[in-house]
Amino acid sequence: MRVLVGGGTGFIGTALVQLLKARGHEVTLISRKPGPDRITWDELARSGLPCCDAAVNLAGANILNPLRRWNEAFQKEVVSSRLETTQMLASTISKAPQPPKTWILVTGVAYYQPSLTAEYDEDSPGGDFDFFSNLVTKWEAAARLPGDYTRQVVVRSGVVLGRGGGAIGHMLLPFRLGLGGPIGSGRQFFPWIHISDLAGILAHALEARHVQGVLNGVAPAPTTTNAEFAQALGAALGRPAFIPLPTTVVQAIFGRERAIMMLEGQKVVPRRTLATGYQYSFPKLESALKAVVA
Ligand SMILES: NC(=O)c1ccc[n+]([C@@H]2O[C@H](COP(=O)([O-])OP(=O)(O)OC[C@H]3O[C@@H](n4cnc5c(N)ncnc54)[C@H](OP(=O)(O)O)[C@@H]3O)[C@@H](O)[C@H]2O)c1
Repeated sequence: MRVLVGGGTGFIGTALVQLLKARGHEVTLISRKPGPDRITWDELARSGLPCCDAAVNLAGANILNPLRRWNEAFQKEVVSSRLETTQMLASTISKAPQPPKTWILVTGVAYYQPSLTAEYDEDSPGGDFDFFSNLVTKWEAAARLPGDYTRQVVVRSGVVLGRGGGAIGHMLLPFRLGLGGPIGSGRQFFPWIHISDLAGILAHALEARHVQGVLNGVAPAPTTTNAEFAQALGAALGRPAFIPLPTTVVQAIFGRERAIMMLEGQKVVPRRTLATGYQYSFPKLESALKAVVA
């Protein structure tokens, strides 16, 4: 298969590209910067979709970048980097003389309203209660194509655990120093997935023709709270993890609206993902974390 991957230079993209190449697929990236085996978004806009069998979009400014203040300019960038790239891919797909057979977008479980009691599967309502849920709704809408020639899949991902990036990239140093612990109350759910499984679900969705619609990209393990996650990460590193990160500190660093991503959480189950036949490599938190910190 020839697969086009928007934002494929990032944390998830690097793992996906490696897996796709190992499975014998050809990959072309879409990036803001020119380079070998890639096209730029400007080239895509100018020349239309290159010939491909499938397209995936992973592009988006990093929301949890602690060096960026949560101000209007950054909020606009977070939104436009997702909506404009997705919209451009969707529109070039629909205009292509030979459209790809599959089109996959990765969004997030922020679609579902944080709660200490509710449980969400792919059919649960959401997408209309705060900045991030509204973003997911618009993002998924931007991907929608008319007709059914191209199979459309949306993977709503939880927190991706892997080496060299993502949320855990910021957590490892304090945890290694024995300074880690729960965030805020620690009671909030922490929907997670190992990066190999997120890449695996994307490859499965590309290759298996019966897969379509929304899949939750979270592990099938019994749901984890943030405090349980902190304890498991401490155990994987052989370090204590009792020092809580207070709500006020998280809000001061990330801004109140963005801090919700860390201070609140959703209990999400991958009901449709399992029903499509995907088999997880890291269904349990302990082994997923062991692989990340090894
Ligand atoms: N990591 C997670 O835990 C997680 C969880 C849920 C959902 N997601 C979603 O999954 C997608 C990929 O996540 P990731 O962790 O792999 O992200 P990432 O490493 O931060 O970045 C993905 C790519 O997006 C492109 N990008 C960055 N800023 C951009 C901008 N302003 N305009 C256009 N493109 C931009 C970059 O590619 P170039 O520099 O080559 O242009 C970058 O390599 C994102 O949309 C993210 O929201 C991630």
